[in-house]
Amino acid sequence: MSEFPAFPPGFVFGAATASYQIEGAAQEDGRGPSIWDTYSHTPGRTDGGDTGDVACDHYHRYPEDIALLRDLGVESYRFSIAWPRIQPDGSGPANQKGLDFYSRLVDSLLEAGIEPAATLYHWDLPQALEDRGGWRVRETAERFGEYASIVAEHLGDRVPRWITLNEPWCSAFLGYSVGRHAPGAKEGTGALAAAHHLLVGHGLAMNALRAAGVREAGITLNLDRNVPATESDADLAAVVRADTQHNLVWTEPILAGRYPATDEETWGELITAQDFRREGDLELISQPLDFLGINYYRPIVVAAAPYREADPALRVATDNRYTETEYPGVRRTAMGWPVVPESFTDLLTALKRTYGDALPPVHITENGSAEFDTVGPDGAVRDADRVSYLQSHLTALKAAMDAGVDVRGYYVWSLLDNFEWALGYAKRFGIIRVDYDTQERTPKDSYRWYQQLIAAHRS
Ligand code: FCB
Repeated sequence: MSEFPAFPPGFVFGAATASYQIEGAAQEDGRGPSIWDTYSHTPGRTDGGDTGDVACDHYHRYPEDIALLRDLGVESYRFSIAWPRIQPDGSGPANQKGLDFYSRLVDSLLEAGIEPAATLYHWDLPQALEDRGGWRVRETAERFGEYASIVAEHLGDRVPRWITLNEPWCSAFLGYSVGRHAPGAKEGTGALAAAHHLLVGHGLAMNALRAAGVREAGITLNLDRNVPATESDADLAAVVRADTQHNLVWTEPILAGRYPATDEETWGELITAQDFRREGDLELISQPLDFLGINYYRPIVVAAAPYREADPALRVATDNRYTETEYPGVRRTAMGWPVVPESFTDLLTALKRTYGDALPPVHITENGSAEFDTVGPDGAVRDADRVSYLQSHLTALKAAMDAGVDVRGYYVWSLLDNFEWALGYAKRFGIIRVDYDTQERTPKDSYRWYQQLIAAHRS
């Protein structure tokens, strides 16, 4: 029996990255500042004070990276477009040099026989828009729709698969309530308004992509498998709140055209007293998707935590109304994340049970692990833990497919070691090692393993 799980013909294997995490060239060719430039340059925000100024220098080295993708054998490459390269201050006419960069990237991918899959927003909001309120205000969603039109008009004929937003949960809640992502705000209503405006922005971007006639358009969510720490009423109630905030806030409007039934019990007057939901929004948000992108890394064990009446901002912070506790008895990655492949299967089958035929075909747009890789004296990068993570999660994915979930593709996170947001460069997710002093790329054992899996799939 092969060590590789077998996938149906036509199943797409890919690799993923994101602009701010790899490109560098932060001030080149007219790129404007994004909220991540501001955040990472603010002392104390990122580990080691790391920034994306240089990152993997992919902006200049993309031909080498595409050669590595071609040798890997992937059918598709998921990258993101930096909004501040296209519109340096978030509105108005396009910066031609920014469009040209992505045009060159797309053409080089196509020449290498790789299908481009583009994400419009992987968190690098133009700072000028944050200065006017960021995702707290509806205007940002409108600007996002305009930006989507510009990009779709220029690249829509050559890029077959489009993702409007990556993990809007992180943008809304890590960005505006937990404060661990840019712009680093700690608010209550601000975070809920951001969540809603991200959804509206998604709908407007879908309109723009449809108008340009692209082949496939969807959104990527990081849905969580929330497991109660105990069967106590308090912990079960905490799971409902965690599900509402992490999952239902997105899946209910997008897949079912309604707001979560549990939003009032989760957020109280922060949601009932709001005025950002407008008539017609649900129709815009719930328009049909060609696929749903899902990023999966780990399950979350949820336990009740004390709610501090005094600070409404904390009411929407993940670490207050419930606590993520430890998952007992399993290996943890370098992120401290528990490795539980079965929960990947459970997440997908539960989603199918909940939404049935309303669940579109799924692409796993990210999955992978940060590990403590060892570099041998010969320079070889040994990452057996990552190989075992990928192997067990692909097997778990296949189990979900066998149980009836229509999954069409899988993108490993990530092609390259890169800037892991607030955790900087210390956390390595790549199947290719990057030496940040020399920018040398070294394929790891996991790269070879994935290459063989893809070759076996094709043969
Ligand atoms: C996801 C992000 C991606 C990367 C991985 C590890 O939340 O979408 O950019 O940081 O986590």
